[in-house]
Amino acid sequence: MKKRTIAVIIALASMALVGILIIQVYWMHNAYKLQAELFDNSVNVTLKSVVNRMFDEKSMNADNMYVCSPDCDHRTKQILEAIKPIRLDSLMREEFTGMEITKEFTWGVFDPESGIFYAGEQGDLKKEILKSGHRVSLSCLYRTEQLLLGVYFPKESKILLLRLVPWIILSIFFLITLVLAFSYMIFLFKKQKKLSELKSDFVNNMTHELKTPISTISLASEMLLNPSNNFLDEKTRKYAKMIFDENQRMQQQVDQVLQMAVLEEGSFKLDFANVDVHKLIYNCINRFELLVNSLGGYIRFDKNAAEHFITTDQVHLQNIICNLLDNAIKYSVGKPEILISTKNIEDDIIISVKDKGPGISLSDQKLIFDKLYRIPKGNLHDVKGFGLGLYYVKTMIESLRGEVRVHSEPGIGSTFEIQLPVNLIVQANGKQY
Ligand SMILES: Nc1ncnc2c1ncn2[C@@H]1O[C@H](COP(=O)(O)OP(=O)(O)O)[C@@H](O)[C@H]1O
Ligand SMILES: [Mg+2]
Repeated sequence: MKKRTIAVIIALASMALVGILIIQVYWMHNAYKLQAELFDNSVNVTLKSVVNRMFDEKSMNADNMYVCSPDCDHRTKQILEAIKPIRLDSLMREEFTGMEITKEFTWGVFDPESGIFYAGEQGDLKKEILKSGHRVSLSCLYRTEQLLLGVYFPKESKILLLRLVPWIILSIFFLITLVLAFSYMIFLFKKQKKLSELKSDFVNNMTHELKTPISTISLASEMLLNPSNNFLDEKTRKYAKMIFDENQRMQQQVDQVLQMAVLEEGSFKLDFANVDVHKLIYNCINRFELLVNSLGGYIRFDKNAAEHFITTDQVHLQNIICNLLDNAIKYSVGKPEILISTKNIEDDIIISVKDKGPGISLSDQKLIFDKLYRIPKGNLHDVKGFGLGLYYVKTMIESLRGEVRVHSEPGIGSTFEIQLPVNLIVQANGKQY
């Protein structure tokens, strides 16, 4: 995965975490508000029932207890007579018992306009009582002017918050777990990436190291096979040919692993130029012709594309075509009978490699382009390979803005088709093609 993709994933996950955090805070706030509203409602209902009971007692003319200081004026005396503060207080205590928050409360009877208190136990909490939402009109007890009974609970917000504490703790716990798990995953991912980089570096170095002896062997065996060397007897010549052929095979495999390492790193450079597709196909045919002839088969080439000069990377396109041709030969049963053809469709060129091999089932057709995938044959793999060729083909052809497709029927054969734009406009090496 590229560095940018990782950064985007981390950014998205962090955003999601912050989002969850904000939503969590929002819901906690809502839950608090809901609790406060519920509490408000029950207090207001209780206050109303207190006033109703006071009204009932008034009509029954119950006891008339009130406390008035010696200097209290006539009006205050009238008010106190009407509202009976001692009874009011005991009724409120009676009604509020059982509600945790309401154990401690202060109250007052006041005139909302002037803010003057006539009764109650306010201590230094007059302001809070005036501002409190828990209030009820006393007009049914004292009609001359508007008086309100207000109650204030000093521990209200603290207790409401305490009720949410378990949820807050749980939320924080889950959030921390999520952050830790996420960080650990990123740590593991980076470690894994480092390891895979080390691994591909190693494979890369090793295959590079193998290339020198391979080309030396190739050169030496070619010298031995040179027809002008008539000092070799038939047997030695046969062995020299064997060394040459096997070495050729090894070279192909090393090349494939190297191509792979380059793909993995994602560091391959495309060198766009005007390329003759027909010439590339001839190059590949030349490479395999001897082998096919020796197997009694043939490679036919139908050049139907009028526009066969295209803008692409020569080396990679040749590798792609050779890979397809190699597969067509490798997987053919008996004589390889192969048809390569080109044609133009609109602004594209289509190169197809058709064989009369064993064919590929539909379910396998979906998988053959995956890295390391080879169609399972039990333990018997008569045809050697790493399962990298078609992965290379697909990845590379997509980098060249093209497409690869397969049409195949088991028992009849397979056709691999690649489609590339003829006039690709790319900005490469400062030049526009
Ligand atoms: N022309 C073909 N005919 C039948 N099977 C094929 C053909 N080309 C590819 N395959 C199947 O697809 C698999 C993947 O191919 P490839 O990626 O080139 O790997 P490799 O050739 O190293 O096994 C092969 O193992 C083979 O089973
Ligand atoms: Mg292959």
